[in-house]
Amino acid sequence: MTTQTERSLVLVKPDGFERGLTGEVLGRIETKGYVLVALDIFTPDRDRLAEHYAEHEGKPFYAPLVDFMSSGPVTAVVIEGQRCIEGFRALAGATDPTAALPGTIRGDLGRDWGQQVQANIVHGSDSPESAAREIGIWFPDL
Ligand code: RTP
Ligand code: MG
Repeated sequence: MTTQTERSLVLVKPDGFERGLTGEVLGRIETKGYVLVALDIFTPDRDRLAEHYAEHEGKPFYAPLVDFMSSGPVTAVVIEGQRCIEGFRALAGATDPTAALPGTIRGDLGRDWGQQVQANIVHGSDSPESAAREIGIWFPDL
């Protein structure tokens, strides 16, 4: 059986950038065997984040999430490889860094900081549909 290659959107969030963890995250992606296809570092504006997080609009953590994500630079990355969407979510670990298993990015490098939103270092697309939509938002020329 063959599996088609796919792409995922990864973000190193402002907490990861601030703590100097960008290289560590990119290293884990490359060590796993996925390929970096595109990479950009900038502070995202609220319009882009509203589009990216449209599914969360109305939830209690939505406004803190947009504040957090626009608070500083992020590294946006497109990665590629067979089943990399599922594979990166496994590398990232659970949303809550306290519960995320050791061995994962969030479990090894993250913790609860007592804020209104979980600062959990990375984002990864959760399905092929989300990946296509998100890559279009962050890398419209790709
Ligand atoms: P992501 O989209 O960033 O890859 O994370 P995820 O799928 O694991 O989590 P999701 O449910 O999509 O939530 C998006 C981001 O919102 C923040 N969040 N904080 N109760 C909380 O404090 C809370 N809930 C969600 C996290 O930064 C989460 O990654
Ligand atoms: Mg999500």
